[in-house]
Amino acid sequence: MISKRTEEMTSFIVMDVLERANEMEREGIHIVHLEVGEPDFDTPVCVKNEACRALEDGHTHYTHSLGLFELREAICEYYLSNYGVSIDPDQVIVTSGSSPAIFLVFSALLEPGDEVIISDPHYACYPNFIKFVQGQPVTIPVYEEDGFQYRPESIKEKLTTKTKAIFINSPSNPTGNLLSADRMQQIAALTQCEQYPYIVSDEIYLGLVYEGKEHSILEFTDHAFVLNGFSKLFAMTGLRLGYVISPKAFVRPMQKLQQNFFISANSMVQKAGIAALKEADQDVARMKEIYDKRRRFMISRLKEIGFGITVEPTGAFYVFANARHISEDSYKLAFDILEKAHVGVAPGIDFGPNGEGYLRFSYANSLENIKEGMNRLEKYLKG
Ligand SMILES: Cc1ncc(COP(=O)(O)O)c(C=O)c1O
Repeated sequence: MISKRTEEMTSFIVMDVLERANEMEREGIHIVHLEVGEPDFDTPVCVKNEACRALEDGHTHYTHSLGLFELREAICEYYLSNYGVSIDPDQVIVTSGSSPAIFLVFSALLEPGDEVIISDPHYACYPNFIKFVQGQPVTIPVYEEDGFQYRPESIKEKLTTKTKAIFINSPSNPTGNLLSADRMQQIAALTQCEQYPYIVSDEIYLGLVYEGKEHSILEFTDHAFVLNGFSKLFAMTGLRLGYVISPKAFVRPMQKLQQNFFISANSMVQKAGIAALKEADQDVARMKEIYDKRRRFMISRLKEIGFGITVEPTGAFYVFANARHISEDSYKLAFDILEKAHVGVAPGIDFGPNGEGYLRFSYANSLENIKEGMNRLEKYLKG
């Protein structure tokens, strides 16, 4: 018998779209992939070289369960130079991607029935992480006209004696929008209320911001857990490296979880992570410049062919466009676009009920492919 909580877990619909697209590709059909949230760029050479060197130098064994001290120090230096926040290596736990980091934080933080506030739409996997450790996701709709930013007063209304955390994700997947400093400040102020909730801030898209100033939650409060990783900014998805920056009291409890469940992150990849933080600036700048060109192009083409974009996204590599005039059923629409126009897109419903009627387009693909995808979409819409 499969356990109830595994049975109850929903699939990641965008992966279903991708798998169907791969099936069509095997039949010889050319697909333009705008569904996947994965950098199309090669991993920076300095990172690959360091990984190879580390392998040759024998970095093939377990490391300290918190991660290599040198990497934890490099993470602290990175946060200090980019966001002006001073953290201690003793607050950093290195993980095999930010996904295990999410698991560690909620495992350490939640008792059965404890509530975690998340926005709707949100990254598809958040509710599953929370429910798997018997927590209760409490969703707050966020709206296109606000640039899908939380209204801090809506969060306040949902706080109960069971609220343990407020989850934020800026820049956001799926919307590509950022929380303004002002709203971040107001959300941080909520940690001072009676329930004393923590902020859990998924900062995996920090660095990929094309307009305006980006912020870490740690600039506003230290009553927070930061989740971050190397997958997106450094195009290292398959290398699996991430981390948590945690209040000190939670480090030892999470270390015990890490020791039991994961032992340590991959040792040679940790060495490569140090190179990413210290040597990949120019690679990141180059990728960012290209993402920005694609972003501008995609936004203008999507608007031209009739999709609704009220507040233009300025971060990550997504455009979350209103498609209600075409269909209220984003799941059906995404698969219809795939079958008829041969373009992979992510249905808004994957990101929560309030995402229904939207489609998420990823510009982690070449400008040439994006142009082709937009042309195919235009033709599809003209019927
Ligand atoms: C918002 C967000 N958080 C976390 C992750 C997981 O990233 P990883 O486990 O590769 O670090 C993703 C991946 O798409 C994401 O979009």
